[in-house]
Parts: sequence; C-alpha cells; structure tokens
Amino acid sequence: MSFGVYVHIPYCIQRCTYCDFATYEQTKILPPTDYTQLLIKEINLKKQFFLQGKESQFIDTLYFGGGTPSLFAIKNIVQIINALASAGYLVSPDAELTMEINPGTVDENKLNEYLKLGFNRFSVGAQTFNSAHLKRVHREHSVDDTRKSLGLLKKYNLNYNFDLLFGMPYQTIAELDHDLSQALAIEPPHVSPYYLTVPEGHPLSKNRPIEDEQMVMFERIESALSSAGYHRYEISNYARPGFESKHNYLYWSDQEYWGIGLGSHSYLKRSTHSAWGQRFWNPNNIKIYQQEIEALKALHSPAELADIYFENLKENQSLTDFCHTSLRRAKGLILSDLKNKFSTSSIEKVDAQLNQLSQRGLVQATDHGYTLTSQGKLISNWVFEKLTFT
Ligand SMILES: C[S@@+](CC[C@H](N)C(=O)[O-])C[C@H]1O[C@@H](n2cnc3c(N)ncnc32)[C@H](O)[C@@H]1O
Ligand code: SF4
Repeated sequence: MSFGVYVHIPYCIQRCTYCDFATYEQTKILPPTDYTQLLIKEINLKKQFFLQGKESQFIDTLYFGGGTPSLFAIKNIVQIINALASAGYLVSPDAELTMEINPGTVDENKLNEYLKLGFNRFSVGAQTFNSAHLKRVHREHSVDDTRKSLGLLKKYNLNYNFDLLFGMPYQTIAELDHDLSQALAIEPPHVSPYYLTVPEGHPLSKNRPIEDEQMVMFERIESALSSAGYHRYEISNYARPGFESKHNYLYWSDQEYWGIGLGSHSYLKRSTHSAWGQRFWNPNNIKIYQQEIEALKALHSPAELADIYFENLKENQSLTDFCHTSLRRAKGLILSDLKNKFSTSSIEKVDAQLNQLSQRGLVQATDHGYTLTSQGKLISNWVFEKLTFT
C-alpha cells in the first residue's frame, strides 16, 4: 500500500479567468508565514488519522500543489516538511516529491534549493505558447517565461510535467497543432492536456471550438503524443515510459492520501468507523479554514471533525469511486481487485453495467478486467454516470 501527502498552497500572482481551484491573489490572503503556521497546526492536530497509534508513517509521494507553491519562500517549504517529520511522517528514501511551478516563478537558485530538499519532479503550468490566448485567460506569464522555465528543467535533465490547456475561446486546430509541436520539441517526460472546462454563462464559455473541432483536438493530442512515444496511462495524463506520476496514480488506485491546507481532500482506507473508509476535507474559504484550524483540538479520527467535513463511506460510494478511478487508468478496472474488495451483489451490479457498456463499444475486456475504449474516453463522464451506484 502506498501513502501520499498533498499540501495546498493557495497563492497566485493573479487569478486566471477559468480557474475555480481554492486559490487567492497573493495580496488578498494572509502572509505566507501565517499560512505556513496554520498548515503546521493542522499537521499536528490531525497526525493521528494516518498514524493510528504507530510512531511513524512513510510518505511515498509528497505533492506541493496550488495555486502557485513556487511563490513560497524555501524556508516555508522546509518548515512544512520538518513539521511532517516531527509528527512522524517521514519522506521515504525513494519517494516522489513534486513541486508545481508557474512559468517565471523559479530561477536557477530556487531550483537548486528544491533539488537539495529532495524534490525530484516538477509540474509546469505552461498551458499554451500563444500569447494572445495566455492574455485572454488572464495568465500572468509570457511565452518567453514558459520557455525559460522549461529550458531550466531540461538543462538539469529533470523529471517534469507540462500542463497543456486547450479548447480556449477562438483557439483553432492549427494553433493547437503549433502548441503540440512546440511542447514536443522540448521533450517533456510527462504531458497533462486539460480541456478548458467552464460553467455555462462564464465569460470564457463563448466562441469556443465547436463540437466537431473539439473532437479533432482530442484526436490531434492523442496522435501527436502517442507517435512521439508518450503513453496515455490515464485519461488526462501522458508519459514517457517510467515517468508516470506516482502521486496521481495513487488517487486512481484506491490508496490513502492526506490533503493538508485550504480545500484539500483526504481518503483514509483503514477506518474503525467504516469498513469502506472515510473521506475528509477542509473548507475552501481562507477565513473559515483559519477559524476552523485555530479552534480545533487534537483529534484521533476524522469522525471527530464537524459533520460537514467528513463522511464515513458506504459500500455503494466506495464501489462508485473504485469504478470511476480505476477506469481512468489505461490498465483499467481489475476484476480480481473488485472481487477482493466488494460483496457479491456489488460485483453483479458492476458486471451488468460493464456488459452493457461493452455492447455499446464504450469499454472493452482485457486479460484482467475492462478499460475504456477511445469512444468511452471521449464521453467518460457519461460512462461514469452508468457506473454510479446509489
Ligand atoms: C490548479 S492548476 C495549478 C498549477 C499552476 N497554478 C498553474 O496554473 O500553472 C493545475 C492545472 O489545472 C488547470 N485548470 C485549472 N482550471 C481549469 C479549468 N477550468 N479547465 C481546465 N483546466 C483547468 C490549469 O490550467 C493548471 O494547469
Ligand atoms: S495560476 Fe493556476 S491555480 Fe492560480 S489561478 Fe491560474 S490556474 Fe488557478
């Protein structure tokens, strides 16, 4: 079993128009040193959740995400890692340590500090090489910043991810092709293409590529990346062999993770309160998060949190999570895992749905279970609805 820790750093230089993650413009939130103290307090108050009486727990993957964690001073990052260690959470010697960096926020000195601390993976919110599109979605960096940041990671021969945003207003297929060829020329070990998702009525919901163009965009990404040697190991993630993100993989493989900081979510598999585990999470609003952490006393289980911040999972919820997350992976849903974890009636329900989805050409049988077909990946949300159990 693997264990991951996610630390959320909700600071951004400016807010991108499309983003609905729990983040703030850095001048509209408490100073980083104060937020770091809240994180340290949270670690100490909740440390028993995953220790469960043990003295220590190894961290297999540690992920600093945001927001823009690369805006934080190294001393804050060190304090957080030290607080985890003092609480008994020790970074395993072969752990994957990821830092999300926005273009233009890291120079060679800072990169060297990260490397000294043990960070061995970076994720760059590059998005696009088109200046007009960057501006339109209110990204604060330039294409030149992106090239410099990626160039630095390449110079040090590091493991890094490139976030590619597509389906933006006025974006053409030719422009996406250009982004793909520019990205591939840099040879990132990992690429995460994100289709822009905004609610109806959002300022960026108009003038977007029409449905046929969207389909072509998905196909262009698939063919450009697969012919360049990338493997689509998850719906939105491509990697060269050996560069798959261990941290993300843990989310899709029914493993435990602890999310610390504003809006973070956690999953505890070994729970005395429910055979199906527990989920718990933090508020999205910084003032409420601060009040909650300041008022909290040391806890032994998520069940001691206020009702709105935890859930004892029932079998149907666990089954739904299992189906959705496992089918996101290229290796798909493994029938022996399903059988080991769930009751006969649950297995029968899943079997019946998978048979129907298979007849529609949306999933296909493998030696060990089922995976999404190309068609299934295109309408994965619809497939997941059919595998939602109440
Ligand atoms: C939350 S961000 C954190 C990384 C970093 N702050 C950045 O933006 O470069 C992670 C990724 O999610 C993507 N993202 C955020 N909101 C999105 C949306 N509405 N639709 C698609 N992708 C989105 C961003 O483009 C980014 O690459
Ligand atoms: S920089 Fe990243 S986290 Fe911040 S607003 Fe933009 S997409 Fe969201």
